This record gives sequence, C-alpha cells and structure tokens, in this order.
Amino acid sequence: MEIIRTVKRLEEVVDDARSKGLSIGLVPTMGALHAGHRSLVERARAENDIVITSVFVNPTQFNNPEDLRTYPRTEEADCRMLEECGVDYAFVPSVQEMYPEPDTRVFDLGPVAEVMEGAMRPGHFNGVAQIVSRLFALAKPTRAYFGEKDFQQIAVIRRMVELEGFDLEIVPCPIVRESDGLALSSRNVRLSPEARATAPKIHYLLEQSLNLKADGMQPKELAATVAAAIDDVEGLETEYYSIVDAETMQPIDRWEDAGVLGAVGCVTVFCGGVRLIDNIRY
Ligand code: PAF
Repeated sequence: MEIIRTVKRLEEVVDDARSKGLSIGLVPTMGALHAGHRSLVERARAENDIVITSVFVNPTQFNNPEDLRTYPRTEEADCRMLEECGVDYAFVPSVQEMYPEPDTRVFDLGPVAEVMEGAMRPGHFNGVAQIVSRLFALAKPTRAYFGEKDFQQIAVIRRMVELEGFDLEIVPCPIVRESDGLALSSRNVRLSPEARATAPKIHYLLEQSLNLKADGMQPKELAATVAAAIDDVEGLETEYYSIVDAETMQPIDRWEDAGVLGAVGCVTVFCGGVRLIDNIRY
C-alpha cells in the first residue's frame, strides 16, 4: 500500500488507473478506523480493481471547534488496518493540501439537508459536500462507499452528486454493531465505562419499536414514544427522533406516505456527554 500525501500524486495514480480502464473504489473516511470502516473497505476491495481510502479529518464539516479538536486521530493504526485489508492507496493529505484556499462553495442541498443533522449542525452538510465533492473530483471513483449509520449523509451526498453531475455509483453499506448492539462509531472511544454500558439501550429500544409498528402505531406517535423511552433511561437524552422517508429525509405522518425506499427512524442521543447517532429501517 502506498501512502499518498499530495493531490499531485493522487492525480497521477488515478490518471494511470483510468487510462488502463481500471475501476476505482473510493472509501472516504475521517480515520479512527474501526470494523465499520473495515466492512466498507472490504466491499470496495471485492468490487473494484483499485481501492483508495482517504483519511482526512475535514475541518469544514465540524460546527463545534471542540469536537474537531478532540476528534480521535490514529493515523498509524489506520494505515496498518488499510494495508491488512488490501487497500492500494491511503490518501492522507494535510488540511493545507486539501484546502490551499478556503473552500467558499455553498451547495444548494435542498430539503434533504435541512432536517435532523442539518437543523442541529448548521453548515455540517455543506462541509461534507465540500470535501466529498473534492475527493470525487480527484479520485474519480467508479464507486464510493459510505456507511448507513450516517443515513442522512448518504442522501445529502446523492444530492451533491446530482448537482455536480458526477458519474459514479454511491454504495451504501449496512451499519456494523458491537455484539451488544451499539453502532460502531469513531466517537465511541469517548464513552466512559458507565456511558458505554448504557449506550446499547438505544439500539435495543429502536428494535423494540418494530413491535409498536406491527401493533399499528403510526410514525409520529411511535417516534414520540421511542424518544420518551430513551429519555427514561438514566444517562440518555434524545436530541431528536424522526421517522422519515428513506429517500427525501422528510418526516412522514403515515407509513403509506413512505416512498419506494421505505421509512427510516433516525435518532441522535447524548450519552454521558457524547453525541451518538443511530437509525432503524421500518
Ligand atoms: O462519514 C464521514 O466519516 C465523513 O463525513 C466523510 C464522508 C468521510 C467526509 O469527511
């Protein structure tokens, strides 16, 4: 595996692969890699001739400077994992390399980016669109892989791809969980032992809510019931729980209102001061 630190070298590698007609799988990450990232990389490895993984903590998508400062950075371990997974190129640029000039682009992301994470974290999705569009322009992937834990992010990236006219396939990959149900996240390392013991209740309560749907409860009431059940757990505090159309990200009143992709319940919960997100398909 080659570690690439410059845009120039990435462009050389990509031009060479493209000229040979090779397919390129891109796995964009912010590092602090875990088994969830591993599953994305393994899928990319199985489906493409060349695999590029980017490791870059993108400052423009952090609306909270403290979150950016304390975001886990584990470059050496990340590169070891990527090498083990058979990645061809780890693209690990500096902030200066990615943003020699400040990126002032504002994307018209529309309604998918206005709700939930978009409402709670102003500017976050515009920052995601900035970095992902830049990575797509440089790596020219045939396919790009994203985890469904950040379900809304995938909808936003699809919108950015449409706006920018990128010719590539977005491949959503299922959430990977700990054996007790906690969705893997780079932020899990920040959980205290008590918070870590409480956090799996989020997934447990989401799963239990499938029974409420089976009993005929409609989305709005179900969302309120689940949020209340989460808040009843000591140490958990719901920021939002919304049941939305899986394509448009807009809240639905009735299950029949969901389009072809169905409905998804998206939750953000504070657990011992750590902001965790998760979701479930209905
Ligand atoms: O999901 C993430 O890790 C990041 O938002 C991404 C897509 C790598 C962009 O920085």
